[in-house]
Amino acid sequence: MATLGVNIDHVATIRQARRAPEPDPVWAAALAELGGADAITVHLREDRRHIQDRDLEVLRRTVQVKLNLEGAIAPAMVEIACLVKPDQVTLVPERREEITTEGGLDVVVHRVATQEAVRRLHGAGIAVSLFIDPSPEQIAAAAELGVEAVELHTGCYANATNAAEQGLRLTDLARGGELVRQAGMALAAGHGLTYRNVVPVARLEGMGELNIGHSIVARAVLVGFTQAVKEMKALLGPV
Ligand code: PXP
Repeated sequence: MATLGVNIDHVATIRQARRAPEPDPVWAAALAELGGADAITVHLREDRRHIQDRDLEVLRRTVQVKLNLEGAIAPAMVEIACLVKPDQVTLVPERREEITTEGGLDVVVHRVATQEAVRRLHGAGIAVSLFIDPSPEQIAAAAELGVEAVELHTGCYANATNAAEQGLRLTDLARGGELVRQAGMALAAGHGLTYRNVVPVARLEGMGELNIGHSIVARAVLVGFTQAVKEMKALLGPV
C-alpha cells in the first residue's frame, strides 16, 4: 500500500490571503498526522507565497512523521534545507509566474546544478527525491545522480480530458515506475491527484508514496464548513 504525504501549502495560502495568523499550517500538520498522514510535505517557494520560513522551522520541531521539503535547486534554497534538515528534500522546478509546479524538473538540462544540490543535501545527511516526468531519459539521469527516490509527476494523467488519454498517461506512469524501481530508487508520485483519480495511481506496482495537497485542503474546507458556521451561530446567541 502506498503511504500518504499530505501537502499543507494551501492552508498557508488561505492564511497569506489575509496576512493573518490563521489558519496555521502547523496546526494542519498535526491534524493531518492525527488523520494518518505518513509524511508532511511543504514547498518553500522563492516568492514565499504560502509557506514561510517560520512555518518550516516550527514544523521541523513539531512534525513527528517524515518531513518532506519541496524546493528549487537554487543554492539559497538548498542552503535553507541544509540548515533546517528535513528528512527529505524533493527538488522541483520553480517559475515565479506559475500558479503551481508545471511539469517535472528537467534533470537532463539541469544536470550540473541538480548534481550540486544533491551533493550538498547528501552532505547534510538529507535524503533526496527528484520530481520528474515519467520519461526514460529523466529517470536514467535521476539514477545517475544517486538519489534515494523519484517522485513521478502525475499532472498529465490528472489533466487528461478523456478515459483513453488517462489510460495512456497511466501506462506512462506504470512504465516509468518500473524503471525507477529497477534503478533501485524509491517510487513516489504526485500532483493533481484527487479523490476521483487517485486509486489507479495508488495501485501501480511498487508505488511507495503519494503526495497530495490541493484536493485534501479543498475537501477539508468543505467538510468542515457546516461545523464552522454552527460554531459562529452559537456565539451569536438566540435571535
Ligand atoms: N508533489 C509535488 C512535487 C508538488 O510540487 C506538488 C504541488 O506543490 C504536489 C505533489 C501536490 O500537488 P497537488 O496540490 O496538486 O495535490
